Amino acid sequence: MPSKKAKANRPAGKAARSPKQDALARFREDPEDQLLTTDQGLRVLDDQNSLKAGPRGPSLLEDFILREKITHFDHERIPERVVHARGAAAHGYFEVERSLSRYTRAAFLQDPSTKTPVFVRFSTVAGSRGSSDLARDVRGFAVKFYTDEGNFDLVGNNIPVFFIQDAVKFRDLIHAVKPEPHHEIPQAASAHDTFWDFISLMPESMHMIMWVMSDRAIPRSFRMMEGFGVHTFRLVDAKGTARFAKFHWKPKLGVHSVLWDEALKISGKDPDFHRRDLWEAIAVGAYPEWELGLQVIEEADEHTFAFDLLDPTKLVPEELVPVERVGRLVLDRNPDNFFAETEQVAFHPGHLVPGIEFTDDPLLQGRLFSYTDTQLSRLGGPNFHEIPINRPVAEMHNNQRDGHMRQNINVGRVVYHPNTLGGGCPMQAGGAAGGFVSHPEAIDGQKVRERGEKFFDHFSQATLFWNSQSDPEKQHIVQALRFELGKVEVPEVRERMVGMLAQVDRTLAEQVAQGLGLAVPKLAGPLNLSVPADADPKTYQPVARKQAVARSQALSMASTVKDSAETRKVAILAADGVDGDEIDAMRRALLAAGAVPKIVAPHGGSLKPGAGAAPAVDFTLLTVGSVLFDAVFIPGGAASTSALAGDATAVLFVREAYKHCKAVAASGTGLAVLEAAGVDARDVLARREGVNAQLTGAFIEAIAQHRDWGREAKAQNVPA
Ligand code: HEM
Repeated sequence: MPSKKAKANRPAGKAARSPKQDALARFREDPEDQLLTTDQGLRVLDDQNSLKAGPRGPSLLEDFILREKITHFDHERIPERVVHARGAAAHGYFEVERSLSRYTRAAFLQDPSTKTPVFVRFSTVAGSRGSSDLARDVRGFAVKFYTDEGNFDLVGNNIPVFFIQDAVKFRDLIHAVKPEPHHEIPQAASAHDTFWDFISLMPESMHMIMWVMSDRAIPRSFRMMEGFGVHTFRLVDAKGTARFAKFHWKPKLGVHSVLWDEALKISGKDPDFHRRDLWEAIAVGAYPEWELGLQVIEEADEHTFAFDLLDPTKLVPEELVPVERVGRLVLDRNPDNFFAETEQVAFHPGHLVPGIEFTDDPLLQGRLFSYTDTQLSRLGGPNFHEIPINRPVAEMHNNQRDGHMRQNINVGRVVYHPNTLGGGCPMQAGGAAGGFVSHPEAIDGQKVRERGEKFFDHFSQATLFWNSQSDPEKQHIVQALRFELGKVEVPEVRERMVGMLAQVDRTLAEQVAQGLGLAVPKLAGPLNLSVPADADPKTYQPVARKQAVARSQALSMASTVKDSAETRKVAILAADGVDGDEIDAMRRALLAAGAVPKIVAPHGGSLKPGAGAAPAVDFTLLTVGSVLFDAVFIPGGAASTSALAGDATAVLFVREAYKHCKAVAASGTGLAVLEAAGVDARDVLARREGVNAQLTGAFIEAIAQHRDWGREAKAQNVPA
């Protein structure tokens, strides 16, 4: 029977109405209080038995209901994205803080009262649809703005640079990183020979390699990642004046990551960790938020930098061009249907609106071709712009017609332009009516297969990134490279890579080499082997250019926001006999700070309290691990803590949290569990006197700090 329960299970969220939500509403199908029908609307009498010649006889071919059901099922799958196959998405809105008319004529950036609906999809790149969220990888950060002038897509990543400079190498990069073709191993991992073979021959990738070997490539949450447009774009104002611009998304909660050991374990405990995190945050109203940042560069300053603005392996240090915070992105509604929205959404860097344009970045230029091309096969034909999630809220009128799965019923006999029979409609807009005008960039060049001279500085910014990292961040990069190259079987590839790292920083190379049992080799011959056949290899070798900045604070996660425990998940580890009053006091304080406390216990149901009220258990120790939490609190209660101290799973839980440098607090007899776990009480918050304002305050402060890296060297030796 249809029930009220069905409604309660809807994801939605409390998103405000928007033109896009109103448009989507027309397509929502809701079975509540409805009878079962076929695709033709025929009511179905019996969905349990096929039509047979007698109760034990063969099924009849004429059973059109059975055939419809099976046929539809047989065709449920579509090809996954060739890259960025695994992702999760949400609806929301964007608003500017004040008019950006000084830079651009884009209508949605003029007025702070304009709320532009958006759909945002986050993704990993290399893995297939069913792979783990916690792969070491770049994360996609794609935003579709449904503006009144048409859709604008900012199809970016969580890392501000890219592996390669020219689209012509994209296929090679992706072939190298994807599972090796003979045995399709490994899934969603760059730690294998073909990837590092390619990288070791591509010095231009070294800056990006520094980023993907850093903890940026294993985020704590999509909500705690930066986003970048990567390429240099162009903003054009109402007078036609153009400026260069870099797009940034700055997360309200700061940039935080997990450790590699956690990433490996989360992949087993909850491979949907990021997807679930996004969904749950939105479902409870903790809406993820970012500020839009812009770095704007006058055209006259284009050539004043040590690097080329058109080179996507370079960033513009914030010390040279500060990031202006200009707007706010909020995600406030989960999709109703993963396939219809998240899977069928089609982003494209060439979806532009007047006032925002691309540049001649040779990677971006190739992307402009790639997305529609791939979507033609992924979504099965040329009409995917009519799928509800892809439709603009702006009106669509043109003479495109027919094709697979056409939805629009175009009226009239005129499907060409110019015409008189249709009154000349649809008419060209002209600039005054918002017609898109391409910036009249002056171009005077010869047809050549070459790159700009500054593109050949492959290592300076890789060194800048390395020098800007804190000591723990540097250590994590070294460990990541030891792991990745440790999985490489061919010794020459490992050696070549270490030689390449030596171009970035000698200490880095030595530390990686030591872990691999190698000496840092002197690279013989040219570093760059991807040289055109007839060219002089010398022309293509890296050159170093002095950078204006030696260190950049913005490149280190150590300088990120650390003032909030909001949405952090805290495990309260308890067993029968726990002090319910201590749980209550800690829980109240955590909830007031916006954190998410959950009780983890050896069994489900409720706990028998030693004092206070009986706490309900959220998770049993069997179903979670401390890697799924940001912090752990062990309340007192003699029977509870002695049971936990004697429970190997509980002990491991605490030990792992300690090893991963998380906030750990214990009160009263809870200290016995720390002792059983081999945790030095001086490194965590251990208070014999029980829960008081001092303990809750210090715990919340420690959670906001994300991790206590000072503990890492010592904690590494803890077996967990
Ligand atoms: C020449 C270089 C590149 C090519 C040829 C390329 C191609 C592709 C293709 C074919 C897809 C799948 C699209 C789909 O099936 O809908 C894709 C997705 C994506 N690409 Fe690229 N890409 C390139 C570089 C980049 C760069 C530099 C970035 C970041 C700035 C990027 C960000 C993304 C994102 C975020 C997605 C996922 C979009 C979604 O969520 O549906 N790509 N790319």
